[in-house]
Amino acid sequence: MDKDNLYKIETLLSHNTRDDENDRALTPPIAQTSTFYFNNVDQVKKAFNFETDDYVYTRGNNPTIRLFEEKMAVIEKGNASVAFASGMAAISSTLLSLLEPNDKVVFHRTLYGSTHTFAKTVLKKYGIESIFINLTDSDELKKNITKDVKVIYFETPANPNLELIDIQKVKELIGEKNIKIVVDNTFLSPYFQNPLELGADIVLHSATKYISGHGDVVAGVVVSKDVDYIHGLKFSYMTELGGVLSPFNAWLLLRGLKTLHVRMKAHESNARQIAEFLSKHKKVKNVVYPGLENFPYNDIVEKQMKGTGAIITLEIDGTKQDAIRFIESLKLFKIAVSLGDIESLVEIPSEMTHLGYDKNELEDFGLSEKMIRLSIGIENAKDLIDDINDALDKI
Ligand SMILES: Cc1ncc(COP(=O)(O)O)c(C=O)c1O
Repeated sequence: MDKDNLYKIETLLSHNTRDDENDRALTPPIAQTSTFYFNNVDQVKKAFNFETDDYVYTRGNNPTIRLFEEKMAVIEKGNASVAFASGMAAISSTLLSLLEPNDKVVFHRTLYGSTHTFAKTVLKKYGIESIFINLTDSDELKKNITKDVKVIYFETPANPNLELIDIQKVKELIGEKNIKIVVDNTFLSPYFQNPLELGADIVLHSATKYISGHGDVVAGVVVSKDVDYIHGLKFSYMTELGGVLSPFNAWLLLRGLKTLHVRMKAHESNARQIAEFLSKHKKVKNVVYPGLENFPYNDIVEKQMKGTGAIITLEIDGTKQDAIRFIESLKLFKIAVSLGDIESLVEIPSEMTHLGYDKNELEDFGLSEKMIRLSIGIENAKDLIDDINDALDKI
């Protein structure tokens, strides 16, 4: 599509970024091949020297993967993007590409469990110091911007407690220092938030979630305005560490993206109704959902988000056993890790996605043992509310 700047995101999502006049296929074919042949050695040399963008080997590039990367760059308002085999491959490769021994990286204290474990164990092994602070507090950030800090990394909303970080504020506080801001935008998708427009240098996603949307792919993607950075990330980290996306999964992601806007609106509409219902129920406390009247970061919602997403956290007014009874009594919500699928999912982070956090430290990381996380799907809202109501009746 050559009018990226003219079309609105719904149109960009619905169409291919470019059509192939050779096959005129409305849905692009899957280039299910590991390697690509050349007609002569000169062609090989030019491809290896990046004088042409000819395909060489699928671990470096592939037509279906390239289509996905092009589309992600457009909708996430960047200039280039690289796909990965998983969100964690995207996260680990990005951090390794930006950091060296003796560097420091500042993380928001609440993070997806495996990201936290990667920072605490793998980065440490390579002499990189991870500092976990409360990035919702500007003073804490100011105190921790020291000369060895090379990266500030956060999720906004954070998984699972939905704390929001003001991206523009972080950018302002860094000033001219050479520190990269990396934002995990998984919870909102490019439809509801574009961190690169707010001052982030790099945005990444677990594409397993809303970008796929159908719970049938594990994938990751990184987008930036800096074309050279993405080139280096792709050819010095993705290809060398080997976390390549499969062409079939790229194709499924392209299919998922076509309905991202429709799904996100449906997820959000359901989530709003469910959050309102939960916040009025006497057996429920601490309902957290952006936009709810008592949500502490509504000023940031207004400033940087185009929608409030579909993740809700809550606690049952009772014991952890009551929380377990509640989630086991739900019929439509499946007990599962992951989020962003068509189907509604439920989990207790301290027992599942965030098991890597030391139980004694949970509170320090903004989590509670009894917290329940709901990923609201696109079923009928009343059916979901009735399911929750029936499960609450059982405790
Ligand atoms: C916010 C966030 N980032 C990253 C990941 C990791 O992604 P993946 O499971 O695709 O490796 C997850 C997974 O749940 C997540 O929730």
